[in-house]
Amino acid sequence: MDERVLTDPRRKRQFVRGMFDGIAGTYDLLNHLLSAGIDVIWRKRTVDLLRPEPGWHVLDLATGTGDLGFETAKRDPGIVVTGADVSVGMLRHGVDKERGRPECLDFLAGDAEQLPFPDASFDGVTIGFGIRNFAEIDRGLFEINRVMRPGGRLAVLEFSKPSTPLIRGIYFLYFKRILPLVGKLVSRDPKAYTYLYESVMLFPEGETFCQHLSEAGFESVEQVGLSFGIASIYTCSKL
Ligand SMILES: C[S@@+](CC[C@H](N)C(=O)[O-])C[C@H]1O[C@@H](n2cnc3c(N)ncnc32)[C@H](O)[C@@H]1O
Repeated sequence: MDERVLTDPRRKRQFVRGMFDGIAGTYDLLNHLLSAGIDVIWRKRTVDLLRPEPGWHVLDLATGTGDLGFETAKRDPGIVVTGADVSVGMLRHGVDKERGRPECLDFLAGDAEQLPFPDASFDGVTIGFGIRNFAEIDRGLFEINRVMRPGGRLAVLEFSKPSTPLIRGIYFLYFKRILPLVGKLVSRDPKAYTYLYESVMLFPEGETFCQHLSEAGFESVEQVGLSFGIASIYTCSKL
């Protein structure tokens, strides 16, 4: 894969949107298949840590087909959730899924790096496996901080790299070799799951990401490792 796709914001923005539009139809299936269903537990944990309250307006950014937003809406009928994403293909599948579900989500096309909302519009923000795809992560974090009210909470779920050598070895083998192969077979996109591996490798995880959150104006930044550190949830609140 051309490295400039990951390092040049303009190229990355264009590539990411097109790629998710292309794999939208198989995204949910592959997500659950490739993670053996653990992703469902991780999303539940993310909402547990956000601790949304009745009456809250929560923004689920990079909502995709809406799973994290639905999980938040499920917690209380008094919680209003808006799901925003750059990929109209992913949003369409989210809207289809919403039919026949008790939870309601307002799906909206929008870029996390240029949000169409006034300052302090939301009590909470969630992002599930989305932040690593932003073309400019810091720009996105400053925008999130802008649209959140003081005291509001943010919960970010993202892949991380396990520290235990054995788990790390298995993890890299799975992400680099098996995942692109299965992903290519099911989604028919040869690049999508190679991109997944490369974007995880480049993501400034752990302490570095916590530093980015602090610099964007968040406090009480914490990281919780999940499943041997394969993924992490970062939580913080706006000063
Ligand atoms: C891996 S999917 C995650 C979807 C969902 N949150 C989940 O938990 O399954 C990543 C999503 O991020 C979206 N995305 C990437 N960059 C974005 C941006 N700058 N603003 C909004 N959405 C973005 C993509 O279109 C895609 O739907």
